[in-house]
Amino acid sequence: MNQKSHSASHEKNLVKSHPCHIAGVGSYVPERVLTNADLEKMVDTSDDWIVSRTGIRERRLAAAGECTSDLAAKAAARAMQDAGVTADQIDLIIVATITPDMIFPSTACLVQQKIGARRAAAFDLEAACSGFIYGLHVGSQFIHTGAYRTVLVIGAEKISSITDWADRNTCVLFGDGAGAAILQSRADAHEILTVSLGADGTKSGLIELPAGGSKCPASPETIAGRMHFLRMDGRETFKNAINVMCQASKDALKHAGIEVGQVGCIIPHQANQRIVDAVSEKLEAKPEQVFLNLQKYGNTSAASVAIALDEAYRGGRIKKDDYVLLVAFGSGLSWGAAVIRW
Ligand code: UT7
Repeated sequence: MNQKSHSASHEKNLVKSHPCHIAGVGSYVPERVLTNADLEKMVDTSDDWIVSRTGIRERRLAAAGECTSDLAAKAAARAMQDAGVTADQIDLIIVATITPDMIFPSTACLVQQKIGARRAAAFDLEAACSGFIYGLHVGSQFIHTGAYRTVLVIGAEKISSITDWADRNTCVLFGDGAGAAILQSRADAHEILTVSLGADGTKSGLIELPAGGSKCPASPETIAGRMHFLRMDGRETFKNAINVMCQASKDALKHAGIEVGQVGCIIPHQANQRIVDAVSEKLEAKPEQVFLNLQKYGNTSAASVAIALDEAYRGGRIKKDDYVLLVAFGSGLSWGAAVIRW
């Protein structure tokens, strides 16, 4: 058998025998609320500027001793409950994050211990704000092949730990939180129909954390230079975000064989209301199709789409058989979109 015909029939069989479903979702945000009024006391900004330029009114901050793995474990417990899955059923844990508890071991291993999923393999995935959609696609492959029956995908961040609280350009934008999904092949659940991913490493400088990695290890100079905090070229990121989110959405919809008008709920990365509005307009989506919760949480990076999916579902914004479009972009640059039949 030649290679081409072998791989084509193999793929066909995989998709038919093991479709991948979202069997349950859950999320968790920390209790502490930081309002725009609080930020007015910390940097030269105003509630008016933040709301009009971003739509954000408040965000959640983890407590000092609360780590990304704590947020992740709480979101995971809720997703497991929603799916009716116990910890010993989980075969694999993927944690998408850019704020791991430590560089190593992986946050996924720490979550494994916290939820008691002793059988599960575990690793972290880094695709910044696109991480949850990347995680869904990676996790789906194990379900499609039949290698695993139950995969836990989590997007979790404590962005406050890498925020420069003296930089008004970035500190008003971000927040902490976690969202999770259980993947299984299960006909009574919500099928992931398509995922479209992409990246452009030529734009890696737009959002970065310059020091603490192998390129620029921690030193007195990196600390003095505030190089352990997130840096961003907001204006360029803004422009790129609109283009790549539109393209990723169109690709995913095309592969799913549906038009934007057929989508019941669009769940975009919750970075900035102006970005979401521009993407919706370019896609010719109606405002009532789009779910937003950024006013409450700001940009929670890899957790953003996962938290929004959970809130949209629990709030009755997603009905059975609705098509749901998830779309995100982030540092890398990286981007992704997914279509789910709920
Ligand atoms: O997950 C991906 C993460 N990144 C993003 O999604 C960010 C994408 N970018 C954005 O959302 C927007 O570019 C921002 C919200 C970051 C900034 O909005 P903008 O409309 O692009 O503002 P700008 O950067 O063009 O700045 C306009 C002005 C500047 O003052 P000058 O130079 O015109 O005097 C800034 O210094 O606004 C000033 N500014 C602020 N003023 C009050 C910037 N941040 C603040 C602030 N409060 N917090």
